[in-house]
This record gives sequence, C-alpha cells and structure tokens, in this order.
Amino acid sequence: VRTAAVIPAAGRGVRLGPGAPKALRALGGTPMLVHAVRAMAESRAVSLVVVVAPPDGAGEVKSLLDTHALPGGSWGNTDVLVVPGGESRQESVKLGLDALPEGYDIVLVHDAARPLVPVDTVDAVVEAVRDGAPAVVPALPLADTVKQVEPAATPGEPEPVVATPDRSRLRAVQTPQGFDRATLVRAHATVTDDVTDDASMVEQLGLTVVTVPGHEEAFKVTRPLDLVLAEAVLARRRL
Ligand code: C5P
Repeated sequence: VRTAAVIPAAGRGVRLGPGAPKALRALGGTPMLVHAVRAMAESRAVSLVVVVAPPDGAGEVKSLLDTHALPGGSWGNTDVLVVPGGESRQESVKLGLDALPEGYDIVLVHDAARPLVPVDTVDAVVEAVRDGAPAVVPALPLADTVKQVEPAATPGEPEPVVATPDRSRLRAVQTPQGFDRATLVRAHATVTDDVTDDASMVEQLGLTVVTVPGHEEAFKVTRPLDLVLAEAVLARRRL
C-alpha cells in the first residue's frame, strides 16, 4: 500500500509576528517547510509529498524546494508536488487531497509548522493505519490543567470558568495524522464545520480515531518562543 503526505503550508503565521509566511521562515538557516518535507521523505513508507503553498505562492515554493532538493532534484525515493492552497487550513488540505494521484491508499496530513517531528513518530502513524485504523493521531498527555470558559462579552474582561475536564483523559494531538484515503476524502466532502484538525472530521463521520504516542519534538511552531525551542532542538541534533 502506497503512502502520501499532504503538507498544508499556506498559513500566514500571524501569531509568529511579522514576516514571510510561517512555513518559509528559517530554522537553522533552512525554511521550516524544507525541514517538514525532509521529515516526511525520511520515512521509507512515504513515496509522495504534496506541499500546499500559499494561494499566490506556488511558483515561489516550488523553486525554493528545488534549491533544497538533493543533487539531481530528488528527495531520495520520495516525489514532491506543489499545489496552491486556500483561505483555511481545511480548504488547503482539501486542495492537497484533490491533487493526489491514484494508488495512494494511505494519506498523512502534516503541518509545515511541525518541522522537527521524528521519523519514528511518522512510521508509528503509518503502521497503525496499515493495521486497519481509519484515522490515527500522535498524542501526548498534558502538563497544564485545562479550563473551559465562557468567552467574555467584551474582549479583555475576565472570563468565567465553566468546567475543568479530567486532565488524565485529555491529550494534546500532533501531526502527521494518518488516514485511510477514502475515509479522509469522504470526511472532507461531508463535514463543513470549522475544525482545527483532520481527525475531528473523521470523528464527525462516527468513526473511531485512535492515538499513538506523540513526541515532544513534534511541537507546533506557533509563537516566537517556539522558534527559540526549535533552534535549540536542531542545535542539539547537530552535536
Ligand atoms: O494556523 P495553524 O498553526 O493551525 O496552521 C497549521 C498549518 O496549516 C500550518 O502548516 C499552516 O501553514 C497551514 N495552513 C494552510 N492554509 C491556511 C491556513 C493554515 O495550509 N489557509
């Protein structure tokens, strides 16, 4: 069974501060997106990566990736395709799925914003889909206690807490999330609510999503402090 990875990389990265689209910002001198593509290509299971670029930036992303490919323009045994994305992450993933050729029956969806995911995590996700799960997410226990609040009517006002879910049953989920392709395509065709990950769309179909152990280095680079952490992780790997 062949496996493809879709990398949504069309976000602007507003929370990271002003500058280039988040996926194109450098980490250890190399764009985050290049790290993310390498992380997928490093898995022997993944033979195609579909990068979803900013809507007006597919050409730029394509040449950027070409300059970071191995001599001869390859990514090892993995092909790389670039398509333009959309207004939301969900739309970007759908555009990536639309571009997938026949023959890829397992699909990973991996945020460009998680450039340092270890290959063992990628392989564990693929393995669980191969074993028959329609949807798989890497997950970690939470360090923080989580509160549900009633959003304040006026921004800046204190927000009343309405519930404290039992932390021992909560997980923070990461990417790549892995799917049986037909299931993910059906989820994207059926679910129209705003969602923040792909697995929740499969949950809405009434199917069971399962977890595999996530990894602390698969954290999402969202805010400026995350860049500091990512640089430190890279420096440690280069020792
Ligand atoms: O905004 P957030 O951090 O949740 O974005 C997660 C991933 O989705 C990022 O890799 C971002 O580039 C991507 N994205 C996208 N298209 C959008 C918005 C976000 O591909 N319109």
